[in-house]
Amino acid sequence: SSVPVLTIDGPSGSGKGTISRLVAARQGWHYLDSGALYRAVGVAAGWADLDLADPAALVRCTFDTRIDFQEDPVSRELRILVNDMDATDELRTETAGAAASAIAAIPEVRAALKDRQRAFRQAPGLVADGRDMGTVIFPDAPYKVFLTASADERAERRYKQLKDKGVSVNLDGLLREILARDARDANRAVAPLRPAEDAVRIDTTGLGIETVVERVLALLPSR
Ligand code: C5P
Repeated sequence: SSVPVLTIDGPSGSGKGTISRLVAARQGWHYLDSGALYRAVGVAAGWADLDLADPAALVRCTFDTRIDFQEDPVSRELRILVNDMDATDELRTETAGAAASAIAAIPEVRAALKDRQRAFRQAPGLVADGRDMGTVIFPDAPYKVFLTASADERAERRYKQLKDKGVSVNLDGLLREILARDARDANRAVAPLRPAEDAVRIDTTGLGIETVVERVLALLPSR
């Protein structure tokens, strides 16, 4: 495809989501939150009371789960529907993240979600955020970024994010969960979290959102 893609990969709390959304809005490109797909399957599996240790059931669940992204025309906020139910808030919880990470280690689940992700590549361009956007889903993307930040800072960002949403969490517990999830994402056999060779790496520790957005936008053709 000749439609340009900017991939933004990195661990949880590295700022991928926030940066990707802002860059997409300013550039006028579409946005894919690939983690939301894995989270959606995790949440649907929870609703169906499936066993996270039963890969066959989870693969079936992946095929059966409807996932729709809807942008509120007024607030521009993104709502995510799972099987026609608004699951936006539930998707953000660390429980959903942990379920997503377990499910994301199953090769058939990843394969089943491949085409759904590639379908987001539409003119005039796409910003895709995740773990394997630059390595597996869009290896031919002309623009690739890998975001990192210290584990402490990432835990703190997630903590604030969840607190703002009214979810009560414990910072130490969150840090431990994030480190466990990162280790699983980085060490799995399929599509492990790692920078693409041609990715520009940005360590966002101590950097403000605007600074990172500008550094990323500087890589793209001006509109
Ligand atoms: O980015 P987010 O925290 O929403 O992703 C949730 C989980 O989904 C990650 O911990 C990872 O295991 C999985 N994921 C993935 N590949 C992606 C995006 C997310 O394996 N492209």
